[in-house]
Amino acid sequence: MHAPVRKSSLVAVIGAVVGALALTSAALAGNAGFAPVTPDSPNAHSITDAYWFITGFVLFVLVAVEGLLVAFIWRYRRRKRTRHTEGPQIHGSTRLESMWTLIPVVILVAVAAFVFVKLPGIKNVPSANAAAGRIEVTVAGQQFSWQFTYPNGAVAIDHLRVPVDEPVHLTVTAPDWDVIHSWWIPALGGKIDAIPGRLNHTWFTARKLGTFGGRCAELCGVQHTDMLMTVEVMPRAQFEQWVAQRAQQQQSGTAKGTLGQEEWTGSCAKCHGLSGQGLVGPSIAASGILQDEAQLTALLRNGLKRGSKAPMPPVGRGWSQAQLDALAAYLKGRFGGR
Ligand code: CUA
Repeated sequence: MHAPVRKSSLVAVIGAVVGALALTSAALAGNAGFAPVTPDSPNAHSITDAYWFITGFVLFVLVAVEGLLVAFIWRYRRRKRTRHTEGPQIHGSTRLESMWTLIPVVILVAVAAFVFVKLPGIKNVPSANAAAGRIEVTVAGQQFSWQFTYPNGAVAIDHLRVPVDEPVHLTVTAPDWDVIHSWWIPALGGKIDAIPGRLNHTWFTARKLGTFGGRCAELCGVQHTDMLMTVEVMPRAQFEQWVAQRAQQQQSGTAKGTLGQEEWTGSCAKCHGLSGQGLVGPSIAASGILQDEAQLTALLRNGLKRGSKAPMPPVGRGWSQAQLDALAAYLKGRFGGR
């Protein structure tokens, strides 16, 4: 025999579950580290829409399944039956079985349809605005920095400058001798892998001025966590001026204060420390190589082989002469035991 279940306790249990979930959603809405960052590019908006659409179903399924689970545990608990008494034997219920087949099918079709509708807006680079033309940047991920190359030859490390409200087309890759990295600025669109020898494409259009942070999203070695990057969104005129000036500085060899410093911070200091004091890489603060451009160039271009006492990736193998000069100029008199 079984006593009638007390409706009030069932309601209390389900109420508690729903309450807990509501609190969780409130925390999510407050962006307590779970929700995506506020998007600032059309493709990032589409990704965030898809996230919330799917999260709605996920919460519905969680509430339904956990609620029923708790209700059933309560409703069909053993009570005073002896341990060896079998419960009622129940066979197939066509209605129930059709329901738990159909509902998931409907949910999956809805999710797939939504994602397919959003996909072109995420993936396809919008056509260029005839007046300005879109900005093209080649992004190369290497252990453990990001190098940005603009069409006029200007190079920057770890800090990408772009104009506001213009589609920025990124060709994302990695040098042949490097490993796979993943480009990811959460507020400005999805992840894309930086694969040695392959050209991947992505884009964003930043809608407001400011600086956005991102990181390498593929475990790529000891200093993976230091592979951070920032995107600085600036007015068009200011961007034009910067990109022209950077290219001109590189050509005239006066880029030492800017590009050289970016190279030191991005490519050297991640392993050797900002003052060359040593980190995961050995201390180089007192090394004479830093003051000898020929030796420095050879080291940057060749690296040190795996198996040697302190292996080092050839961080400067793809660098132009201007980039090598910029680093040498920056290091002059600053490090290297002088
Ligand atoms: Cu590059 Cu992780």
